[in-house]
Amino acid sequence: MGQDVAVRDMAVALAKKLAGIDAGNLLLIGASGTGKTTLMRAVEDYLLSNAALANRSTLIRIHANVLAEEAESGFAGESLLQSLYERAREHLGPEASIADVLRRIEHGIVFVDEVDKIRGRLGDSVHVPGIRAQEALLTLIENQAVGFQLPGNGKTVTVDSRGLLFVCAGAFEGLYDAVYDRVTIGKDRGSLKPVTVVKNGKVQQKTVFTLSDWLQTDDLFDYGMTPQFLSRFDAVVLLNDLGEDELVQIFEDTPDSAVHPARAYFESFGISLDLTPDAVKRIAQEAARYPRLGARALKEVFRRVVREYEYEPEVAAPEGRLTIDVAEVEEMLAKRKSGR
Ligand SMILES: Nc1ncnc2c1ncn2[C@@H]1O[C@H](COP(=O)(O)OP(=O)(O)O)[C@@H](O)[C@H]1O
Ligand SMILES: [Mg+2]
Repeated sequence: MGQDVAVRDMAVALAKKLAGIDAGNLLLIGASGTGKTTLMRAVEDYLLSNAALANRSTLIRIHANVLAEEAESGFAGESLLQSLYERAREHLGPEASIADVLRRIEHGIVFVDEVDKIRGRLGDSVHVPGIRAQEALLTLIENQAVGFQLPGNGKTVTVDSRGLLFVCAGAFEGLYDAVYDRVTIGKDRGSLKPVTVVKNGKVQQKTVFTLSDWLQTDDLFDYGMTPQFLSRFDAVVLLNDLGEDELVQIFEDTPDSAVHPARAYFESFGISLDLTPDAVKRIAQEAARYPRLGARALKEVFRRVVREYEYEPEVAAPEGRLTIDVAEVEEMLAKRKSGR
């Protein structure tokens, strides 16, 4: 929801890949809780839901942290290739030859989540596992002959990894502030100019900052991603911060919404749970106050609203119907604030 650009770029990359055309690696950057992992999972589910598609490519999703841990002990790409191999083996079955399995993984799709965890710098110090993990990914991204041990028999084989599609995603926390500082008080101060807006008949000066307008590759170097690593990505895709309207949509229309388990819980007492549109809006508005949590804030806020009713549902809804309106949302949110 609210991530049309990222969804389109991902869709096009996937379509090219499945058609056997070079797709170009993607780097997704978006604040926490804006849907990066959800988008990756959606692609996974989509491929798995269709045998014909699943047969065209092997997809794995890993956490960059795993690469960093491996980097401490050896070749950080090892388990990535092993996972790809295992996944391809599952698809092709035990009868398939090793050569066929290897051919399959050479055109696999690798999602690396939380890629900002392998930054090469933490504060003022160098983060060696991060640098090594970036190097390992680099090795994988453009190498004709990467060796790895087959799971099981320990035999070493080589694959041409140039045909793999990499989609990496991360929140890059602090990047937003760093870029904002650069264009307001830092080396490019004065770049971000206030614009004149007329609102309710009044003339105002406003500065409008969006990361996509100002992000440069240098900002990512400064963050701790190496130039060699970044040069392997054809596109950096920024996810949008989610506003109140998107949060309302996410609450009402996504399968992961916290409203579903709550509904199921009340249903188990024979009670149907409803929220008025204004109540939902109020919840979204409260959640929007915590931009660092993104859509995760919805769960938190919603929990504050329903938990009072959950202990004795029959008392809250003697008629078998619990309708939460905006006044009740207001009341529950106020309770927490005043510490009662
Ligand atoms: N753009 C979005 N559209 C739909 N649901 C979203 C979106 N962003 C976040 N969510 C919901 O919020 C939760 C956290 O999202 P997630 O994708 O894990 O965030 P992150 O960007 O940190 O990986 C999930 O339950 C997901 O369903
Ligand atoms: Mg995530």
